[in-house]
Amino acid sequence: MAEKFEKVQNHAQINRTSRLAREIWQDHYTPIIGPEQVEYMLKNFQSPGAINDQLQSGVVYYLVVRADEDSGYLALEPDPEKASAKLSKIYVLKDKRRCGLGRKTLEFAEMLCRDMGIKDLWLTVNRHNHAAIAFYRQEGFTAAETVVQDIGGGFVMDDYKMVKNLSPG
Ligand SMILES: CC(C)(COP(=O)(O)OP(=O)(O)OC[C@H]1O[C@@H](n2cnc3c(N)ncnc32)[C@H](O)[C@@H]1OP(=O)(O)O)[C@@H](O)C(=O)NCCC(=O)NCCS
Repeated sequence: MAEKFEKVQNHAQINRTSRLAREIWQDHYTPIIGPEQVEYMLKNFQSPGAINDQLQSGVVYYLVVRADEDSGYLALEPDPEKASAKLSKIYVLKDKRRCGLGRKTLEFAEMLCRDMGIKDLWLTVNRHNHAAIAFYRQEGFTAAETVVQDIGGGFVMDDYKMVKNLSPG
């Protein structure tokens, strides 16, 4: 089934992304970090205003649309001077997982990176997010170090940093 990657540029696309974030994060992260931290992070990082601010600062978002349905999204934070990029978001709706969409979304992100001359892709993932860690390992990422970040509001992110070298392809 063909999927489209739609660059997030206008208010309607920002709102669609924010809606997906709410649906996916509430379902997926509540058992991992609890409802208060989920709400805090949605408000501070995935509200329409927060996404708009990120776009202004150079973060690139794409909606993943399969069979005309919003099915997931990705966000990349490129750092061309270091030839690296952070894959800051990759999310697929629950009922669309394990069908290869995450892999295709990652391949699309890697293509964007190669077009920008980026050689290293990295990300952080919650240490208890076992499904995502399994996915990243399968797709060629290796765990580099643990990272604990204070995100305000009395919350911390307790993550692994994972990295992937993008060989020419
Ligand atoms: C991580 C995520 C994007 C993967 O998307 P997906 O569409 O399910 O992934 P794919 O179907 O392309 O999976 C590719 C391979 O990764 C591995 N994989 C994916 N999900 C897995 C899981 N839950 N457990 C073990 N391995 C898994 C498998 O090897 C899979 O291949 P297979 O299905 O042929 O066995 C998706 O599970 C997701 O959105 N999760 C919730 C949000 C999240 O945690 N995002 C990452 C934030 S850091």
